[in-house]
Amino acid sequence: MNTITLLGSARGNGYTATLAEAIGFRVLNLNDYLIRPFDYRGNGTGDDFLPLMDKLLQYDRILLASPLYWYSMSGQMKVFLDRITDLLTHHKTMGRRLRGKAAGVIASGGAQVPPPCFEEPFRLTFGYLGMDYQGMSYLDTSQGLDDAVLAKVAANHPFRDDYALASSGNWAKATPA
Ligand SMILES: Cc1cc2nc3c(=O)[nH]c(=O)nc-3n(C[C@H](O)[C@H](O)[C@H](O)COP(=O)(O)O)c2cc1C
Repeated sequence: MNTITLLGSARGNGYTATLAEAIGFRVLNLNDYLIRPFDYRGNGTGDDFLPLMDKLLQYDRILLASPLYWYSMSGQMKVFLDRITDLLTHHKTMGRRLRGKAAGVIASGGAQVPPPCFEEPFRLTFGYLGMDYQGMSYLDTSQGLDDAVLAKVAANHPFRDDYALASSGNWAKATPA
């Protein structure tokens, strides 16, 4: 099982990035890619969306990392999710490869608890795409960063159970063929 984190924050070294790094999977930063907003033409935009999807599809588990911006996911992440629409129309073979992959969310925000409307679009979108949603781990940054809290939230990431099994060497036994 391999895992990739896709970071969508206005800054690559902020709270959400810090949480992603603390969890420790390889991180791709959406700010390093030119992803144009969805535009209904669906092909020929020539940006980095399809090459980025190619990379993501090499992984079994995809962790989306977003801060809470106005009760919602970041604009960077929303643009990325909108573009997945291209995979339902013009690039269906690629879209089908998302099916069965595990997905999770990590997030940071200034609220103690994120509003339910933050997680729902992720959960529903992963469901629509036939992905296996494993939940969300959330970091409250209202008081800045506390190392102990960061470590706790990081340890509680959505793939924690499988990850513990994988790193304990019992993965083959625990995962049905
Ligand atoms: C544009 C913007 C909108 C925000 N909106 C919210 C919000 O609706 N709810 C909330 O709890 N925090 C909100 N915050 C605070 C951020 O979620 C919080 O500081 C987060 O940890 C920032 O992560 P980052 O460093 O990756 O950007 C907002 C911050 C910004 C910059």
